[in-house]
Amino acid sequence: MSIVYLNGEYLPLDQAKVSVLDRGFLFADGVYEVIPAYGGHLLRIDEHMHRLQTNLAAIRLENPLDEKQWAEILEKLLKENPSEDQSVYLQVTRGSAPIRNHGFPEAPQPTVFIMVNELKPVNKEVLRQGVSAITLDDIRWKACNIKSISLLGNILLRQEAHDRNAAEAILVNEGQVTEGAASNLFAVIDGVLVTPPTGPCLLPGITRDLILELAQKHNINCEERIIKGDELDKASEIWLSSSTKEILPVIELDGKAVENGQPGPIWEQMIDIYQAYKAELRKGAI
Ligand code: PDD
Repeated sequence: MSIVYLNGEYLPLDQAKVSVLDRGFLFADGVYEVIPAYGGHLLRIDEHMHRLQTNLAAIRLENPLDEKQWAEILEKLLKENPSEDQSVYLQVTRGSAPIRNHGFPEAPQPTVFIMVNELKPVNKEVLRQGVSAITLDDIRWKACNIKSISLLGNILLRQEAHDRNAAEAILVNEGQVTEGAASNLFAVIDGVLVTPPTGPCLLPGITRDLILELAQKHNINCEERIIKGDELDKASEIWLSSSTKEILPVIELDGKAVENGQPGPIWEQMIDIYQAYKAELRKGAI
């Protein structure tokens, strides 16, 4: 049984309980983070904590813990739930109030919940098999940059992809590609690695930023620019990125092979760069 953190306590998962009046439960009034750890070392923890802080500010909720407290809790939970690679899920909600009311409570007592799960090693051979994706109309709201626990749009879109035997839905908002239902999107178009610019239409993924940084460092031609939905037809490579999926090649889009239905050469290069980065992190060298 894993050990989780709930409002100052470390508990076995089945003993962690929150009130049914918690605004996370009633309104999905909260934000979350997913942070991978390799060999006990959290990937890009400063960037994750910075995004959490930005998200809390966006929903007008004070961060209930300071940097040192977050670090201490995460370190303890990683130790309490040992495995080679781990994934931390944390969420902060606006807590509970005596009655259900859309307006904020006067003095919110945020709920902080954190759990750690084993992250199954993602090996290159498995990733190389690639996945199918379908394009769907992006039905979500206008603040997709907030990592909100309100994921109804995302889960309906992801489920529609599953129902149609695809692993992910690639979302198109007014003719422009935004991201996947739970991932960011990259494409290689005319030899250039491109990804949509951040803004209200997509989540500024930590993996996305790391890929861009590594691509620049290794002289891979890359660009943040608007991608029109129909441009994906001529992409020679399409990838999905996230903390848990890393960099996943899409080999089939809307039932048609992407290029020759195999991951492309830039993915082959980038996945090695990414794995090398993880290996350094694992050694504690980053
Ligand atoms: N989701 N876009 C969306 C909508 C996401 O849900 C995610 C990740 C990403 C990638 O962000 P990052 O690189 O920071 O993981 C982009 C997480 C993993 C989840 O909800 O489980």
